[in-house]
Amino acid sequence: MAQGYADFHSHLVPGVDDGSRTLKESLYSIGRMVEAGLDRIITTPHMWLSHAVGGQLTAFLELHDHRWTGLELAVRARYPELDFRRGFEVMLDRPGLDLSDPRLRLGGTRFILVEWPLHRIPSGASAMLERIVRSGLIPVVAHPERYHGIGPGLGLVREWKRAGALLQGNYGSLAGQNGRGARAFILRMMQEGTLDYLCSDFHGRRKYTFFMVRGARALRELGGDEQLAVLGKVNPARLFDGKAPLPVPPLSLESAGEAAPVAVPGKGGLGR
Ligand SMILES: [Fe+2]
Repeated sequence: MAQGYADFHSHLVPGVDDGSRTLKESLYSIGRMVEAGLDRIITTPHMWLSHAVGGQLTAFLELHDHRWTGLELAVRARYPELDFRRGFEVMLDRPGLDLSDPRLRLGGTRFILVEWPLHRIPSGASAMLERIVRSGLIPVVAHPERYHGIGPGLGLVREWKRAGALLQGNYGSLAGQNGRGARAFILRMMQEGTLDYLCSDFHGRRKYTFFMVRGARALRELGGDEQLAVLGKVNPARLFDGKAPLPVPPLSLESAGEAAPVAVPGKGGLGR
């Protein structure tokens, strides 16, 4: 793949979640990402709001600061050209959010990556997103195509966008990593031009497939070169620079000879 891709969803901080386990594994995984064409990476360990009540947030962030500092030093030494930053994938599993700590945001910007608990969409999801927007942040919902009950229509994701949220799909969903339902749903979002970003959500282990390359290839095979450029390069790069995404031209699947997909709820667990 050519250079110029940017990615703000991955699990590369060693030993803090279900991503990379050691510094060595993190560096190996980052090498795969650089080789695939990424020159900007924000890595986003899992964080549960329910685990961060009271003083626990301080202890949680201290552990992450420590692991992040070691990783950042090693990455700067090995890949001096790489724009490498930190954020979190914040699970919105409790109301009354306090997201004011800047470390929770994506790479020093006003954007914050969020996900829903247990692969299910809570009632009041749009209201939660609205509250985040009112607090001055821009929520980016991770992999909408992967939640149970998301489809088949696009009603929910349209509602989230009206609330001021943005949408990030996984390359792996294009490559079939998350089942037919997830692939159908992500393509449907792209047909409508609703999706804003594509990211790897790479969990940084040696044995895991790095689906970014396969997903990009799958999109190209559908005639989606233009969409790939905006979703994988232009818009994520704009996020790094603190700018809103550009509109994404709708993907035409008729020209690719693929019938409009019938979206069904996605299957499969979070993680890889
Ligand atoms: Fe993730």
